[in-house]
Amino acid sequence: MARSDEVKGPNLAERLAATRKLTLDLAGPLSDADATIQPHPDASPAKWHLAHTTWFFETFILRDHVPGYRLHDERWPFLFNSYYNGEGERHARPRRGMLSRPSLDEVRSWRLEIDQALQEALPNLPAETLALVELGIQHEQQHQELLLTDILATFAENPLEPAYGALAPAPCHATELLGWNEGRSGLTEIGATESGFAFDCERPRHKVLIHPHRIANRCVTNGEWQEFIADGGYRTPTLWLSDGWDWLQRESIERPLYWHDDGSHFTLAGRREIDRAAPVAHVSYYEAEAFARWSGARLPTEEEWEDSFAFFDSEMGHQLDGAGPVAPKAGGGPFGDVWQWTQSAYLPYPGFTPAAGTVGEYNGKFMSGQMVLKGASCATPRGHSRASYRNFFPPAARWQFTGVRLAKDA
Ligand SMILES: [Fe+2]
Repeated sequence: MARSDEVKGPNLAERLAATRKLTLDLAGPLSDADATIQPHPDASPAKWHLAHTTWFFETFILRDHVPGYRLHDERWPFLFNSYYNGEGERHARPRRGMLSRPSLDEVRSWRLEIDQALQEALPNLPAETLALVELGIQHEQQHQELLLTDILATFAENPLEPAYGALAPAPCHATELLGWNEGRSGLTEIGATESGFAFDCERPRHKVLIHPHRIANRCVTNGEWQEFIADGGYRTPTLWLSDGWDWLQRESIERPLYWHDDGSHFTLAGRREIDRAAPVAHVSYYEAEAFARWSGARLPTEEEWEDSFAFFDSEMGHQLDGAGPVAPKAGGGPFGDVWQWTQSAYLPYPGFTPAAGTVGEYNGKFMSGQMVLKGASCATPRGHSRASYRNFFPPAARWQFTGVRLAKDA
């Protein structure tokens, strides 16, 4: 979280309003039915994202810090609490798609009511509570990305292949040949410094030893992935981790998620021909790891990745300027195309302390069985990435915009 002395009232109010509006705008093209479907247990309905982010503010700001505040509806926290045990019982995650009520319109008007209450409360909130508002903004930005990936998953289930937006993703790295940059080695530091916003899991900044290595100048492309498939990559057990091979066989995995066997794939812009020069997306950690082995390389550690891109301007990579379709930016960079799997398990840094209160459940309790991803994707909102960011997913997850940057021992 932000240190409380850095949270500025008026600026915070503007960013809060802009963030809340962007979420509504992202849901703008969706019907109530579009927004209610849950395509699989890991994904959530768009309506649920709209409501859950609102629950977060109503609970941790208005209910807890505004005297006399009364909940909009006392039954709704049960529906829209995600995983906070400190907030009690809740609706089962795999059944979020069963909620045809409240309607999308009711959720939208609840959002506006909460926005107004927040803006009225802000001038009177102490710095510690404003830090929670900042956390709520960052939380909502995470859900903006999830809203897009979950809509992609929803529309991918529909044989009519609806398009969320009309803009086709632009090609990335079209002219960039794979090259290798020498990484720094020796004792260095990673993790967020004490200034500015960071999630609790990014701190404390601490010393790490980095061994001699090289890191790829760009992410793996669709064309390279097609070569992996053509070379029998998905049929060669020696390339795969044992868990990965079991997963592949159990799920009959033969290609990245949303790929079809005719050279096309399903995107937020509808069905499109696969662009060989664009970075591959929607691959699991298991696939990333097998691909790296096939190509005589390995995945980077989170230390190697972070040290390589610590001074890269993460603002350059952010794509999500406003409502509507997203498009990876030509030229690419470490931020803004696809999240990049690392070989590092998502574990606490030395001296990690979860945030105080129920929001301490935000990150720390998930530090088991998940891998760290670095960078940002084409669906990550502007202003929401930095080198110290630690995204994390289980090794089989692939409905996010997840791709691969290779590394090698020097
Ligand atoms: Fe959440």
